[in-house]
Amino acid sequence: MKAFSWPSLAAALLGTSCVVGEPVQFCPSGGGGLCYGIAIPTSSANAGSGNIYFQIKAPTSLQWVALGTGSGMAGSNIFLMYQDGKGNVTLSPRLGVGYSEPKLDTSSTAARLTLLAGSGVSEDGSTMTANVACSNCQSWNGGEMSLKSSSAGWISAWKQGPSLATTDKEATIDHHDNRAQFRVDLTKATINSDSNPFVSTGSDGDSNGPGSGSGSGSGPGSGPDDGSGSSGGFTQISAPPRPAVLVAHGIIMALVMGLFYPLGSTIMPLVGKWWVHAAWQAVAFCLMWAGFGLGIVTGRRIPGFLWNEPHAVFGAVVICLLGIQPVFGILHHLYYLRVQRRGLISYVHIWWGRILMVLGVINGGLGLKVAREEEGPVIAYGVISGVVFSGYLGYKLCHFFRRGRAGADKEGSTSA
Ligand code: HEM
Ligand code: HEM
Ligand SMILES: *[C@@H]1O[C@H](CO)[C@@H](O)[C@H](O)[C@H]1NC(C)=O
Repeated sequence: MKAFSWPSLAAALLGTSCVVGEPVQFCPSGGGGLCYGIAIPTSSANAGSGNIYFQIKAPTSLQWVALGTGSGMAGSNIFLMYQDGKGNVTLSPRLGVGYSEPKLDTSSTAARLTLLAGSGVSEDGSTMTANVACSNCQSWNGGEMSLKSSSAGWISAWKQGPSLATTDKEATIDHHDNRAQFRVDLTKATINSDSNPFVSTGSDGDSNGPGSGSGSGSGPGSGPDDGSGSSGGFTQISAPPRPAVLVAHGIIMALVMGLFYPLGSTIMPLVGKWWVHAAWQAVAFCLMWAGFGLGIVTGRRIPGFLWNEPHAVFGAVVICLLGIQPVFGILHHLYYLRVQRRGLISYVHIWWGRILMVLGVINGGLGLKVAREEEGPVIAYGVISGVVFSGYLGYKLCHFFRRGRAGADKEGSTSA
C-alpha cells in the first residue's frame, strides 16, 4: 500500500477538479530514453497565438536533439538543443531547408525560445533537459500550426556523439542518426495556466528537475522514459517509403555481386562453355553499371554522400576495378586458344573476379548499414550471399579434389 499523504491527496483532487490536463509525452523508439513533452495553455489555444511549452529530455550520449513543427525537414520550424559546456543547454531555432543541415533562423519570425527552470544537465551528467517556452510558434517563415489542431505535424531527430559544448547557436551539426515524425493532438496537451508545466511546484518534489533520470510516475510530465512509451496525443508516423531508385540500386547490386557473378563463375567450369560464362557475366556486368548509375542518382540527393561515404567510395573502386574484368576474360580466352591451358592472365582473371565479388558483397553490407535497412532484408542478404558463397567454395573444393585424383592418374597433367 502506498503511504497516505495530504499533499498527494490534494494533488489528486486538484488533478481531477481544476487542472485541465498535462503535457503529452512521447519517447520515440530507438531514442535510448529520449522523450519529448508538449503543452499548450488554454489561453494560447483560444487566442490562436501565445506561449506554448515543450520539453526535450535526452541522455547526454546524444550530441544533439531536435524537435520541430512541420511534416518533413523542408519548411519546418526546428528547435535544436545541445550541451553548452557549462552544465546547461543551448537552444537554436532553425529552419528546415530540404535534405541538408538546417541553418539558424535569423529572420524576425524566428522562433522566440526561452529556456526555463528545470533545464540543464543532471548532476550525475547522464541526462540533459530543455524546458522551453515558445511565444510565436504558431507560425514561421514557411508554415504555420494551429494551436488547436488535433493533428499537428511534428518532427524530431537526434544524433549520438560527444558534447558540442558550445553556446554558439550556429554550431554545425552532422546528419542525424535517427528521426521520428508524428502527429500530435494538441487538444490533449492543453494546460490550465500559462506557466512552465515541466517543473513541479511545492509538494510534487523535484521529480521533473534536471536531476531526475526517471520520473516518479505521478507528477505532470513524468512519462515512460524508455522504449516506445508515449501518452495519448502522439501518433508516430512510420518512416516514409524508401525511394524506388535506392531500392532498385540495392536489389540490383546485391543480386549482381551476391548471386549473378558467383553463379556465372560457377557456370564456367560446370558447363565448360566459355561463351555461356561470358554472355552471363556480360549481362551481369551491364546490370552492375546500371546499379552504379542508380547509386549515383540516389547518392546525389544525400548531401556529402558522393565520394565521401565509404560505401560510395569503396563501391566505386570495386566497380571500376571490375570494369577491366572482361578484358582479362578475353585475354585469357585468346591465350587459352593459343596454348590450350591456363596462364598467368587466366589466374589474374579468376582471382581478380573472386576477390572483387567478395569485396562487392561486403560493400553491399555497408550499403544496408548506411541505408539503415531493417532487420529482414539484412538477414536475407547475409543468408543468401552466405549460401551462394559456401556453395561456390564447396563446389570448387569438390572439383579440386576430384581433379586432384584424376591428375594423379594422368601423371603430370594440368592442375587446378
Ligand atoms: C559493390 C557495389 C555496391 C553494392 C553491392 C551496393 C549495394 C547497396 C545496398 C544493398 C544498399 C542498401 C539498399 C537498401 O537498403 O534499400 C545500398 C545503398 C546505397 N548505395 Fe550502394 N552499392 C554499391 C555501390 C554503390 C556506389 C558506387 C554508390 C554511389 C556512387 C552507391 C550509393 C548508394 C546509396 C546512396 C545508398 C543509400 C544510402 C542511404 O540511404 O543513406 N552504392 N547499396
Ligand atoms: C564479360 C566478359 C567476360 C569474359 C569474356 C570472361 C571469360 C572467362 C573465361 C573464358 C573463363 C574461363 C576460365 C577457365 O578456363 O576456367 C572465365 C573464368 C572465370 N571468370 Fe570470367 N569472363 C568475363 C567476365 C567475368 C566477370 C565480370 C567475372 C566476375 C565478376 C568473372 C569471373 C570469372 C571467374 C571467377 C572465373 C573462374 C571460374 C572458376 O573456374 O572458378 N568473369 N572467364
Ligand atoms: C539553465 O538555464 C535556465 C535558464 O536560464 C535556468 O532556469 C536553469 O536553472 C539553468 N540550469 C542549470 C542547471 O543551471
